[in-house]
Amino acid sequence: MKPLIALNFKTYKESLGERGLALCEIAAGVSMLSGVRIIVAPQTVDLREAAKVCEDVYAQHVDAIAQGQTTGWITVESLKHAGVKGSLVNHSERRLARDVIGTTVERLRGAGLESMVCAQDATETAELARLKPTFVAIEPPELIGKGISVSTAKPEVVTGAVELARKSAAGVPVLCGAGVSTAADVKKAVQLGANGVLLASAYVMAKDPKKLLEEIAAAV
Ligand code: G3P
Repeated sequence: MKPLIALNFKTYKESLGERGLALCEIAAGVSMLSGVRIIVAPQTVDLREAAKVCEDVYAQHVDAIAQGQTTGWITVESLKHAGVKGSLVNHSERRLARDVIGTTVERLRGAGLESMVCAQDATETAELARLKPTFVAIEPPELIGKGISVSTAKPEVVTGAVELARKSAAGVPVLCGAGVSTAADVKKAVQLGANGVLLASAYVMAKDPKKLLEEIAAAV
């Protein structure tokens, strides 16, 4: 598959509301012109609006819970209704119990939505790949938000995760993230065997996010 780019907006104040929607529009435009798939994961309250300006929108989290008499949860059905295409699951900043990860992936699949399941090391990547999510993503937590890319700081983590995941669940694409900030970081990740990258702070905080995304898209 052609490598893809996933952009997690987290809860940064710089990605909320109008600014977040502008980041979505930029991603949609760069994706269309470059032919590279670019997924955006805006803040929860912005999802419905985001889906109007960008067709590749993920939630940052979803709960494996049924619709009905429950309060304050995010259901798979509500994401689908908002025009969202999938969800991150088990991000390092929103960890879930193993059985909940399985149920969440199942629920998303059942609703025809995609799942991007995050893992903190190569072993966990391989284990979670067995759930057959749409994507798995390896992100060493100690490098998240630090601006030093996993692909250069810990290349062995990427190659190890790719190798183990392919052994345990061939066909599940493996992304990598944490500190990915430049086109060179992305190029290195792809050379190490990753099927794409997941990044947050570099894009959300960029002075010129369009330029950065164009460079990254050109690198993949
Ligand atoms: O989900 C992506 C993320 O955790 C990586 O964050 O800021 O290091 O790109 P960042």
